[in-house]
Amino acid sequence: MSTREERTKLFLQDRFGMFIHWGLYSIPARGEWLRGNEKMTFEQYKVYFDEFDAARYDPRAWARAAKAAGQKYAVLTTKHHDGFCLFDSRLTDFKATNTPAGRDLIREYVDAFREEGISVGLYYSIIDWNHPDYPGYGDRIHPDRDNEASKDKPIDFDRYLTYMHGQVRELLTDYGKIDIMWFDFSYDNMTGEKWKATELIRMIRSIQPDIIIDNRLGGDIRAAEPEEYAGDFYSPEQIIPPGGIVDANGVSIPWEACITLNDNWGYHSTDREYKSSAQVIRTLVECVSKNGNLLLNVGPDAKGEMTRDSLNVLEEVGEWLRLNGESIYGCGISELAKPEWGRYTQRGNKLYAHVFDRGIGPIYFAGLKGKIKRARLLRDGSELKVELPWMAEQYSDIDSGAFINLKGAKLPDERDTVIELELLP
Ligand code: GLC
Repeated sequence: MSTREERTKLFLQDRFGMFIHWGLYSIPARGEWLRGNEKMTFEQYKVYFDEFDAARYDPRAWARAAKAAGQKYAVLTTKHHDGFCLFDSRLTDFKATNTPAGRDLIREYVDAFREEGISVGLYYSIIDWNHPDYPGYGDRIHPDRDNEASKDKPIDFDRYLTYMHGQVRELLTDYGKIDIMWFDFSYDNMTGEKWKATELIRMIRSIQPDIIIDNRLGGDIRAAEPEEYAGDFYSPEQIIPPGGIVDANGVSIPWEACITLNDNWGYHSTDREYKSSAQVIRTLVECVSKNGNLLLNVGPDAKGEMTRDSLNVLEEVGEWLRLNGESIYGCGISELAKPEWGRYTQRGNKLYAHVFDRGIGPIYFAGLKGKIKRARLLRDGSELKVELPWMAEQYSDIDSGAFINLKGAKLPDERDTVIELELLP
């Protein structure tokens, strides 16, 4: 069997992925949690099931948008906490094929993204607010948590586990090779072996030996000896871990921060709080500079279209990556400390200086004196000279530092101007 290092190699080179939250909740358009948040009954929620038509669902357009954005992999919600399945599961009727959409939307997604050469990930909620054998009353988040009527309803959790394992088996059997299995999520005592996690993981690996799995089945992926089900990568949410993620021995482990483009995962019709392309670019750089990936979320609308605002940001980020991608893909943490003006990423003897803050005068590179073979502006390949500024010896550490003079008051790209430094061995 492959090791975690082997399995995650490509994933960690890819660095940038597209997360997609899409489902019935895109119709009420106030986020994917509403069934739980608003304690909705099945009947109330079924309204959306009866009208979900995916009329403008065009996963090829999604895949093209991801590709143009420079994203190398994608993760789509096959089933969220509401229990609704975008795929044609044989184990439930609560699925896209029984809505007006009338087809297996996951099949189309997998085919479209594969065709664009983008790795395919499946998000699957292990929480299920629709299954009769999932604990409702007294749970912390379930729509029936305060519903006295469901208090004494007998449940058979093993039956739910059989269902859940069965659906995972379907997802990993029916759609060819799947690159990422993205489970969501464990909480309180609903964690680890409560999900029969070891059994689940073994089943997954027997069907898809090279698949990588997130760490949300529970366990401690940072332990010296993690549980078998602790997963292949850590998945911090809505935060870039300040020091990256390291294990008990201080060794960097694979991680991916998932971040929303506005303030919601699922479509929200009035949420216009989109991050700018500058924020996304700098966040991606931050992740890579700490050995992590960025999974950037978009929430398509009820008809299946991504919002113009989302697409604009993706396009801008993609254009930056087209010119500066070498400083991201296959790169990771640098041996040098974070500089004052921005961040470093590195791949072998290529050091990438991401200048966020122009300042005035030459850019100072601590510790690089005599170590730079060649300096180029990454976006156009133009030469930059390493030279000692006038009188710098009187007030700078010229014994160990190097300087590059950038012309002009503004950076060529104020969001992030990348200088490629080829280091001497
Ligand atoms: C969560 C939320 C959720 C979202 C996910 C993404 O824990 O429950 O709605 O899908 O994180 O990471």
